[in-house]
Amino acid sequence: MTTPHDIAILRLDAAEAQEAIPALADILADAVAGGASVGFMDWNGPADYAAFWTGVVAEVAAGRTILFAARSGEDIVGTAQLQLIGKPNQPHRAEIAKVLVHSRARRRGVGEALMQAAEMAARQGNRDLLVLDTDENGAARRLYRRLGWTEAGTIPRYALMPDGRDCGSTFFYKDLA
Ligand SMILES: CC(C)(COP(=O)(O)OP(=O)(O)OC[C@H]1O[C@@H](n2cnc3c(N)ncnc32)[C@H](O)[C@@H]1OP(=O)(O)O)[C@@H](O)C(=O)NCCC(=O)NCCS
Repeated sequence: MTTPHDIAILRLDAAEAQEAIPALADILADAVAGGASVGFMDWNGPADYAAFWTGVVAEVAAGRTILFAARSGEDIVGTAQLQLIGKPNQPHRAEIAKVLVHSRARRRGVGEALMQAAEMAARQGNRDLLVLDTDENGAARRLYRRLGWTEAGTIPRYALMPDGRDCGSTFFYKDLA
């Protein structure tokens, strides 16, 4: 799949990320409303999502997270993060987190394009072991398999779905070495 012609994948600096908080909060709200297990419950609201992204902006400013946005015209329709692990004994590892595409823009290759951008940034930063986890029943599991990620296993009851049901998390890794 190639990146849709109307989509640009951008790496946001802290100022750009700050400006994008309303759009990013909207994408997170859309994912939770759609039943995705992405760290929030259905009783969370706009202030919670904005607070989450404010924390991400701080991580970007500190150089610990690389934040990507998928733009279509003036709109941000998707996002992903590459979290650089700061531990002295893991200089080669990074985690991918919060891969989110607004429901109006899904199944067009935006998620794949975000994953490719994160992987390229990891290679450029000499991070050659990538890790992520995702809802065992979510759409992302198939996407990650298709992109060459290896399933390490599923931990039952790892998190909750937005409506309170149990949700297992499937852990993946991709060895770029
Ligand atoms: C997972 C997600 C990011 C994919 O974004 P996307 O832009 O639709 O991704 P792409 O178009 O690049 O690829 C879509 C792939 O996702 C998978 N997928 C999407 N919807 C699916 C569904 N209803 N059932 C099964 N697989 C599905 C498939 O592998 C699909 O590829 P295919 O069309 O070749 O079968 C998006 O569905 C999303 O934001 N979901 C909610 C949040 C979430 O769960 N994020 C993952 C957190 S780790």
